[in-house]
Amino acid sequence: MKEKIIIFDTTLRDGEQALQSSLNTQEKIKIALALEEMKIDIIEAGFPISSPGDFKSVQEICKKIKNSTICSLARCVEKDIIIAAKAMSKLDNFRIHLFLGTSKLHIESKLKKNFKEIQDMAIKSVKLAQKYTDDIEFSCEDAGRTSIDDLCKIIEILIKNGVKTINIPDTVGYTVPNEFSKIISELYIRVPNIDQAIISVHCHNDLGMAVGNSISAIQAGARQIEGTITGIGERAGNTALEEVIMAIKTRKKMLNFFTDIKYKKIYKTSKIISNICNISIPINKSIIGKNAFAHSSGIHQDGIIKNRKNYEIMSPKDIGLKKIKFNLTSRSGRAAVKNRMQEMGYTEKDYDLKKLYQKFLKLADEKGQIFDYDLQMLAFIKNNSFKKKYIILKKIFFTVQSFQTTNIYIKIFYNNQIKKINLSTKNGIINGIYKALKKITNINFLLKKITIESIYKENKIWGKVNIVVKYKNEIFYGKNISKDIIKASSKSIIDVLNNILQYNQIKKNIKNS
Ligand code: KIV
Ligand code: ZN
Repeated sequence: MKEKIIIFDTTLRDGEQALQSSLNTQEKIKIALALEEMKIDIIEAGFPISSPGDFKSVQEICKKIKNSTICSLARCVEKDIIIAAKAMSKLDNFRIHLFLGTSKLHIESKLKKNFKEIQDMAIKSVKLAQKYTDDIEFSCEDAGRTSIDDLCKIIEILIKNGVKTINIPDTVGYTVPNEFSKIISELYIRVPNIDQAIISVHCHNDLGMAVGNSISAIQAGARQIEGTITGIGERAGNTALEEVIMAIKTRKKMLNFFTDIKYKKIYKTSKIISNICNISIPINKSIIGKNAFAHSSGIHQDGIIKNRKNYEIMSPKDIGLKKIKFNLTSRSGRAAVKNRMQEMGYTEKDYDLKKLYQKFLKLADEKGQIFDYDLQMLAFIKNNSFKKKYIILKKIFFTVQSFQTTNIYIKIFYNNQIKKINLSTKNGIINGIYKALKKITNINFLLKKITIESIYKENKIWGKVNIVVKYKNEIFYGKNISKDIIKASSKSIIDVLNNILQYNQIKKNIKNS
């Protein structure tokens, strides 16, 4: 029978402590609600003694979360435990998570104590925490580097004293999977009362082993995995929970476990966390990266068209994404081009695939990426000039009054005439330019994403802008790079508008042809 793996999320504690700037209460509540919606079993809401703000956030999270268990971290220090319990006191059930270093290194050089003193501190703290709740988790900090004899000794005593969850953290991400799973197996062999507690693991990713170690630990007997969605956390981060969850789902026959997680919420939750925490997800990040389900090479795209299973072990739909279109580039083969034409409703009777593919390769080399409207143009319109400049930026001028009101003046060449606009805004220059260009061109597009990145090259700072907009249910992209960030932003919007106008022109030509 499949056994359940408990998912413990520490985005709001281990994850948050790794951010450049801490989150406010409202932001933490939004994350907690998203975690609850995906049915995370335990949410570590914070470390209440660390600051009044953290204390308040834990209190507020307790008011909002109904289904997940809320947990707070505390050192084996009286005031930490009292404050952690106070922060969660409105709840009937909550967990206190105690931690104390158990490796020789931590005991001697950090805590300046001996093993006996550590044992006494641990028992005293457990007893105090039990006055508030019987749901106590105890972390043997740096367990990955703790001697197995000491680890077995302290765990046996902790369980004897009523600790319900024993956490084995690889605090510094030092172990490798077979070594880490051996620690867990040894505990099952050597700790006589081990069956009276849940064994949890909390792995860090310093050597990139966090997910591998966590999976190896459940195979050896652990039944709770700690980590964060996206993998954020101290230094190189924590176990990326989305990876663990999808590994358990995808390899269910091999692993024989299940989680209660609503997979379809994974992508949405990762987006909420990356936006609120201001961390970007690498494009090749497993499960949630932009390319995680993208097939690029001609051979792979062809294989996918024949049978998705050829190159797909999971479906993007599993994590709540819609079907992902192939990225059409010069690496794409004829099969991908034909497939996209088919998706747009054209059969090979409507166009000449051989000719289309030749033109496609030429344009893909020039342009980088080919969109649906490019394909339509290549297939159906003769001698159409590329990247026609329907709109040209002639002048842009702005004044900022004490960062309050921005006055913007824009002059463009559009529809064979000069057009000008004056606009005042309190929302900053870039919002103003977006609004002004929308108004002056009368094109009803919706900004979906803009990334403004500064790069330092040739002794100068450059602004690189990428923009994504929605127009009539299609997605369009624009970009520009300039030493002037305002110019790059304006020109990237104009670039996307030119793409939209070209698309309109193509549609018109196809209709008339
Ligand atoms: O990495 C670690 O050891 C921790 C503990 C507090 C569980 O974060
Ligand atoms: Zn940690």
